[in-house]
Amino acid sequence: MKALPPDPKILDPIETASRDEIEALQFHRMKRSLKHCYENSSFYRKRFIEADVHPEELKTLADIAKFPFTYKQDLRDTYPFGMFAVPQNKVVRIHGSSGTTGKPTVVGYSQSDIDNWANLIARSIRAAGGRSGDMLHNAYGYGLFTGGIGAHYGAERLGCTVIPMSGGQTERQVTLINDFRPRIITVTPSYMLSILDEFRRQGLDPRQSSLEIGIFGAEPWTNAMREEIENAFDMHAVDIYGLSEVMGPGVAMECVETKDGLHVWEDHFYPEIIDPVTCEVLPDGQMGELVFTTLTKEALPMVRYRTRDLTRILPGTARSMRRIEKITGRSDDMIILRGVNVFPTQIEEQVLKCAGLAPHFQIQLTRTGRMDCMTVHVECTPEMTDDAARAKSSRELSHHIKSIVGVSAQIVIKDPNSMVRSEGKAKRVVDDRPVE
Ligand code: DLL
Repeated sequence: MKALPPDPKILDPIETASRDEIEALQFHRMKRSLKHCYENSSFYRKRFIEADVHPEELKTLADIAKFPFTYKQDLRDTYPFGMFAVPQNKVVRIHGSSGTTGKPTVVGYSQSDIDNWANLIARSIRAAGGRSGDMLHNAYGYGLFTGGIGAHYGAERLGCTVIPMSGGQTERQVTLINDFRPRIITVTPSYMLSILDEFRRQGLDPRQSSLEIGIFGAEPWTNAMREEIENAFDMHAVDIYGLSEVMGPGVAMECVETKDGLHVWEDHFYPEIIDPVTCEVLPDGQMGELVFTTLTKEALPMVRYRTRDLTRILPGTARSMRRIEKITGRSDDMIILRGVNVFPTQIEEQVLKCAGLAPHFQIQLTRTGRMDCMTVHVECTPEMTDDAARAKSSRELSHHIKSIVGVSAQIVIKDPNSMVRSEGKAKRVVDDRPVE
């Protein structure tokens, strides 16, 4: 893998500013944003009045803790446009997150929001080692999902040649990667694995592909998965984080030279970590739920939005802006199995440790009597032809899950290529327990 050193000359000045400068900018922008919420959004005005707090009371950044939280449910309750803080003729774009049931969560952007977003994606691609003039294959889904169009605009802003491939049509993805020879790919890590399988199916060596950088996000993935993809493609794999309610991809980004967690673009987003139960703000370094206040958004500003994502805040390294640790998972995805908390990423780590197992897995939850049971369905690699070898892998995985994650799991080894492939966000958990 070619080393990709940073080029300080092309960074935005704020990326290397002092903490004092960053905090001064954040304070100025937070004050302006709270005032905008109060004056232009009936939703926030009501919320602030109910909580008996006024934007004037923000005297320091920490005073944000006096303001009420915002929840995904608030967007549902005000569906579709009830939380917007600009008139509809100033909203130039709508996106939405599909969710699992019912109506999407709708988000909107002013022209200035779209500009900021494109600049932050451009900054994120640069942090990944991408440069103006690079060709970028964008396999995030286009449409209401923020991944495709969000990445697209930012790549163009940086000066890349963008291939707007979207998700799906895996055979074609591989043909185009081979023919066009892009340097960068933007895609969910689970779909990258499907692309990898397709390279092999077509008899192509992925290490010989033109890809040097993968910008992976939209779902949790582990450092073990990073290693798997980096080795398979001989490329750098970096993490990009974001959520539609706060903007979309590009809220935080890992730098290729350090690969040590994601720098929050703190000039636009103010992060807090809270205890999800007591709602108390936790000091940097402690694990909890990530909460964001947007500092520049016009159409849909967010005040203390509860992301449900679990992580901790760490000091800056490659950039002055603070980092978040790679996201372990969402509180909604946490499985509680006989008192033990389990995240799908913990199972992913164990699967990737076992020789002979492919990184395609799904967790099924069932109930026998009063007991919840977990079954891990996982594919073996094509080389695993005999039953004894499969049984050995199964025992090995069960042992690792028991000794490291701390729960008992049934293992079902599946034939190569027998499990449904993700084309976007992977569905890691199937809950077949009866609804109570
Ligand atoms: O997934 C935005 C995005 C697109 C991010 C492309 C990165 C790349 P939503 O569909 O609203 O937006 O889903 C947001 O996905 O709250 C996390 O739970 C999860 N997520 C996003 N990025 C990561 C990541 C997009 N890098 C939700 N690691 C978030 C872990 C992630 N989870």
